[in-house]
Amino acid sequence: MQDKIQLLEEKLAAAQLGGGQHRIDSQHKKNKLTARERVHFFLDPGSFEEIGALVMHRSSDFGMENQRFLGDGVVTGYGTVNGRLVYVYAQDFTVFGGSLSETHAEKICKIMDLAMENGAPVVGLNDSGGARIQEGVKSLGGYADIFHRNVMASGVIPQISAIMGPCAGGAVYSPAMTDFSIMVEESSYMFVTGPNVVKTVTNEEVTAEELGGAMTHATKSGVTHLTAANDIDCLAKVKQLLSYLPQNCEERPASLPYETTAEVREQLAGIIPDNAQQPYDMRDVVAGIVDEDSFMEIHEHYADNIIVGFARLGGRSIGIIGNQPLSLAGVLDVESSRKAARFVRFCDCFNIPMLVLVDVPGFLPGTDQEWNGIIVNGAKLLYAFSEATVPRITLITRKAYGGAYDVMNSKHIGADLNFAWPTAEIAVMGAKGASEIIFRKEIQASDDPAAILAEKEAEYQAKFANPYLAAERGFVDQVIDPKFTRRKLMKGFAMLENKVRSLPKKKHGNIPL
Ligand code: HXC
Repeated sequence: MQDKIQLLEEKLAAAQLGGGQHRIDSQHKKNKLTARERVHFFLDPGSFEEIGALVMHRSSDFGMENQRFLGDGVVTGYGTVNGRLVYVYAQDFTVFGGSLSETHAEKICKIMDLAMENGAPVVGLNDSGGARIQEGVKSLGGYADIFHRNVMASGVIPQISAIMGPCAGGAVYSPAMTDFSIMVEESSYMFVTGPNVVKTVTNEEVTAEELGGAMTHATKSGVTHLTAANDIDCLAKVKQLLSYLPQNCEERPASLPYETTAEVREQLAGIIPDNAQQPYDMRDVVAGIVDEDSFMEIHEHYADNIIVGFARLGGRSIGIIGNQPLSLAGVLDVESSRKAARFVRFCDCFNIPMLVLVDVPGFLPGTDQEWNGIIVNGAKLLYAFSEATVPRITLITRKAYGGAYDVMNSKHIGADLNFAWPTAEIAVMGAKGASEIIFRKEIQASDDPAAILAEKEAEYQAKFANPYLAAERGFVDQVIDPKFTRRKLMKGFAMLENKVRSLPKKKHGNIPL
């Protein structure tokens, strides 16, 4: 018996070493933690239970039979984060570049299946050169097995991908199908084909960082939702993100204990500038509404004319979608519509109530927008809001113009409560544009066109630049004093807590992808 226990101890010790000490040192030289260190820092102390530490690949081509490492390049198992169950896999770059073999894929699939059956999130710590080249189609099949599970798990359990090293070839598609990706700056990159292939095919010279580094995907492609300064920061952000989410689609997000005190926020009354053309930071509105320091912005560097993120209101988790007047006056364009639509879909999957802050002059005009499909992309956001069944409250802070009024969670597309500040302006378009169209003949016939335009503009402004016509119709439920916003929203979300709304029976809708 003692011999057998000694053998077990030796095997487990060997598994802990992964690819060998010299490779682990080289991982550290690149400022990267090893796979095991990542799991250690991610989970609650002592909570990790490993599954499959003794698994090895079965390949014998290209001399692979002599290069078998326990665990086969991925550490898999489960543990807790802030006391809640989480399944985790961490790819080990020190073993064949973290490449995905048949057995490596089987290990990941095993924990994904467990996560689905037991209703808890899966977090992937990715660091992989893609399909293990020596295994050919077996590794491609392994990827497809994971992709299929990503799709089956979508909307059932939260799936989060941390990109903590290279992520090439097939390795990028699983993260792309999970709910959130976070990339570590300067040590991670994602691309389907690397710089060498790009040079061969398109003759473009590009570095790995430019092609698929963290800031590239955070700003240009929107592939990553978050970035992190280093591995530890990355793991901390994943933990923070998990804190806003429920374990699965059957649950509500965890609420933090909260004692209601005086909820009046005077600072909200001073945010909207007197001049309607002057920008302000919608984040100040968010900060004035939500629990202190509770806002976690998602996709911060991408399409910054809209802000999305999670926050807490009286301890409850909410999703926030808000036009950002600081950037492009807060217009809706291709990227911002897509960004917001994706976020709305996520909140709706996981029972996270939504607060929508509206200050939008409309959709961005121009050939660039039309040719890049603003019609179909704007429709994504319209569709996403219309189909969402979670509690949804809208607050119009200033402009709600044109089609964007409809799209931004209007009453007509199913919002539960619509509030407006007295500064709200709800109209088909701005006063100048509107007057130029409807009074064109009068203006042209006048001896002083500028004066008549100004007069008509003032008339239009006086009639529509307020929330009262919409409130008269019931499209706005209450016009509220800004300082009471937080209290109104807390009461509103509490009232909607048990909301049940079902969709018509169907296989699934056909969102304009
Ligand atoms: C087997 C691999 C590997 C792979 C890396 N290694 N990628 N082994 N299969 N896919 C091994 C290397 O041989 C090397 O082994 C060790 O990992 C470290 O790799 P390096 O190249 O030394 O590291 P680095 O310079 O940091 O470069 C990392 C890298 C590069 C950018 C990921 O290794 C690379 O380009 N790898 C290939 C990427 C790729 O084309 N993958 C296949 C994609 S096809 P030694 O023993 O020398 O240390 C694919 C199809 C799936 O994924 C499609 C599904 C939709």
